[in-house]
Amino acid sequence: MIITIDGAAASGKSTVGALLAQSLGYLYFDTGVMYRAVTWAALDRRLEANNVEQVSQLAETLTIDVLPDGPNDGRQYTVLADGRDVTWAIRSPAVEKYVSLVSSYPRVRAALTAQQRRIASAGRVVMVGRDIGTVVLPDADLKVFLRASAEERARRRYRDSQAQGQNAGYQEILAAIQERDKQDIEKPISPLVPAEDAVIIDTDNLDIDTVVARLKELVTGAA
Ligand code: DC
Repeated sequence: MIITIDGAAASGKSTVGALLAQSLGYLYFDTGVMYRAVTWAALDRRLEANNVEQVSQLAETLTIDVLPDGPNDGRQYTVLADGRDVTWAIRSPAVEKYVSLVSSYPRVRAALTAQQRRIASAGRVVMVGRDIGTVVLPDADLKVFLRASAEERARRRYRDSQAQGQNAGYQEILAAIQERDKQDIEKPISPLVPAEDAVIIDTDNLDIDTVVARLKELVTGAA
């Protein structure tokens, strides 16, 4: 089976997707890391993030690999950009700032979509992102769209950042989430919308295990 999970920033899609894939013995693939890797490489090469031509060319030539393991430093997987380990670098504030812009470029999307389809063609995959059910894999066996209010997502991020010893405030996190939602929803290509035949799950009052259990029921039903 091919399973897609889409949703907004901090909707829980990565956590839920990874757990679902693990319990099914499927490959977990988070497509956000590819947009982040292109953004990181653009910044690393001192390109202007708003130079559509240069960033697009980079996306068309950059080799991005995602490996299932790596050093034991809390990572779930290892992301390589042209062979360099960028697993942590793609989470930096600079990448965070420009990734939405970079992901709005049609040639960047086309290049990464082609790679994502190739990865999914082997089957037995849980692919997570924003447009996987609508654009990348519209014929997937099961499409899920996770929804959660901006306030709930900000609370989750705030708890995570506290646990990691960072001192970002709740209001600051909420404002960043609202800004990113606006960019992602208003994107002219691949805006963040559920596929017509997606199962929409509102996770505001559900814990992770409950969401994963519900997805497993859906997988059984779709098999
Ligand atoms: O899920 P994330 O925060 O790692 O995604 C990073 C950025 O990449 C986000 O701004 C949206 C974009 N993205 C996208 O446009 N399409 C995808 N399939 C996945 C991510």
